Amino acid sequence: MRPLLTSSRARPASALCALLLVAQQAQAQFYNIDTSDAIKQSARTLAYDLMTFYEGNKTGMVPGILPGPPDSGAGPYYWWEGGAMMGTYVDYWHLTGDSSYNKVVMEGMLHQVGDNQDYQPDNHTASLGNDDQGFWGMTAMLAAENKFPNPPEDKPQWLALAQAVWNTQADPDRHDEHCNGGMRWQIPFSNQGYEYKNTIANGIFFNMGARLARYTDNATYAEYAERTWDWIWGVNYINHDDWVVYDGGTIDYNCTDLHKATFSYNFGVLLQGCAFMYNFTEDKKWEERAHNLLDSGLKNFFSRGAHWETACEGGNTCTTDMLSFKGYVARWMSVVAQIMPSSRDKILPVLRKSAEKAIAQCTGGPTGRQCGFYWVSGQYRDVALDHTTGAGEAMNVLAAVSSLLIDEADPPATNTTGGISQGNPNAGSRHRHYGEPKPITTGDKAGAGILTVLVVGSGLSMFVWMSLFD
Ligand SMILES: *[C@@H]1O[C@H](CO)[C@@H](O)[C@H](O)[C@H]1NC(C)=O
Ligand SMILES: *[C@@H]1O[C@H](CO)[C@@H](O)[C@H](O)[C@H]1NC(C)=O
Ligand SMILES: *[C@@H]1O[C@H](CO)[C@@H](O)[C@H](O)[C@H]1NC(C)=O
Ligand SMILES: *[C@@H]1O[C@H](CO)[C@@H](O)[C@H](O)[C@H]1NC(C)=O
Ligand SMILES: *[C@@H]1O[C@H](CO)[C@@H](O)[C@H](O)[C@H]1NC(C)=O
Ligand SMILES: *[C@@H]1O[C@H](CO)[C@@H](O)[C@H](O)[C@H]1NC(C)=O
Repeated sequence: MRPLLTSSRARPASALCALLLVAQQAQAQFYNIDTSDAIKQSARTLAYDLMTFYEGNKTGMVPGILPGPPDSGAGPYYWWEGGAMMGTYVDYWHLTGDSSYNKVVMEGMLHQVGDNQDYQPDNHTASLGNDDQGFWGMTAMLAAENKFPNPPEDKPQWLALAQAVWNTQADPDRHDEHCNGGMRWQIPFSNQGYEYKNTIANGIFFNMGARLARYTDNATYAEYAERTWDWIWGVNYINHDDWVVYDGGTIDYNCTDLHKATFSYNFGVLLQGCAFMYNFTEDKKWEERAHNLLDSGLKNFFSRGAHWETACEGGNTCTTDMLSFKGYVARWMSVVAQIMPSSRDKILPVLRKSAEKAIAQCTGGPTGRQCGFYWVSGQYRDVALDHTTGAGEAMNVLAAVSSLLIDEADPPATNTTGGISQGNPNAGSRHRHYGEPKPITTGDKAGAGILTVLVVGSGLSMFVWMSLFD
């Protein structure tokens, strides 16, 4: 994904006036979350509407992906977001029991595994970041934890797919000495952003390690996860005083050139990883870390009760990627409430209030129930002005609503508590190596320098720069 480097959806400055405009006519609220049945009914309709963005099961279309990638002209979505959407439906089924979309999800998840069955398909090498691969890996992990129906025996199994992703990322070729360790954002060295080491790539590796340890009861995964946490902490991607989570830094500056934008998925993926580490190790230090992140995140990402995407929402500069973060965070937080009981009372009321705000603004479009992105006001914003009614925006609300059913759902399974997925600790080990970085030329250095100057400058100048040159 490209939260840092693209602006496919960054809106022009004139769209700022959209801030002041809401839908001309106030429509009656369509969705209701007052009872468990009402939540299920609402989620059912939201799931139906989200599926209208998906074309992967139509004749001649590619299963698993949303229309895109942007360069192809097919639509605004990068490859990773299809995997994130499949995960949203894996949770939807788990939380509501509605299996209507399981077939589509199974087909999409299996189509995108790639030749080595590790979610690195050749078609998407050009945007293959560790985070992109990792989002598909987290969905496979989730399918194992939720006891999603197993793939046919001749296909790769969910747990093995998660292990394959983890194994390719644990490989020493993904970890170099720059910045004292850590993974880079991009996997192929020729990709733009290879010099960036970011929180989300390392955060997903941490998150998956914690979950694999718990599912398989194999402490090796937890050791890697702990090392990854120590690295993220060591390079100050988490502020040591207020626990605000930053986006990353570049190897050109030993990762000290912090890009301080705070995206909610960085906070969420680390929070959930800490909660899994606590649940697995029962070591209080992980519970403390989770609470520190949680307290900070609740302050940073919720405004008037609603999830607020701090880095971009106020300036109308959220990219297509960023427009989908709210949903992941709601889903991750709800699982934290399940596996770390001391967090329940902090999390559940916040998720409910935020979902109330989310559905209040789903009054748009010809159906009168289309959802936008801006939850704080609880009012649908005129989409003609800022085009925020895409798949990410729909995923967010589906996730926010269905996550309210968490108390009725089983906690994530493990191999010894009912899990049904077959693993393979060696999965993915035959993966392609993407080679050594080319020698650094003067041109590269100049290029990196420009990027860095803008990274440490304001977020706005960066987005402007990106929209000029991307
Ligand atoms: C694609 O899947 C959706 C959801 O299950 C379904 O409603 C739709 O009919 C399917 N389309 C095709 C062409 O199979
Ligand atoms: C790769 O892209 C081609 C062309 O769009 C498509 O036909 C094929 O199904 C894709 N392969 C995968 C695994 O998605
Ligand atoms: C535990 O996981 C590690 C890392 O994948 C693997 O090397 C090891 O074989 C696993 N141990 C067992 C008992 O499966
Ligand atoms: C780079 O930063 C790490 C801490 O993240 C530090 O241990 C190391 O000494 C630094 N290296 C250089 C060359 O400054
Ligand atoms: C781990 O999660 C399970 C399932 O929700 C829960 O019953 C258990 O109490 C949790 N363990 C700890 C140490 O909180
Ligand atoms: C999971 O449990 C099954 C059945 O109890 C066992 O055969 C299998 O070896 C276990 N797998 C792991 C990775 O522990």
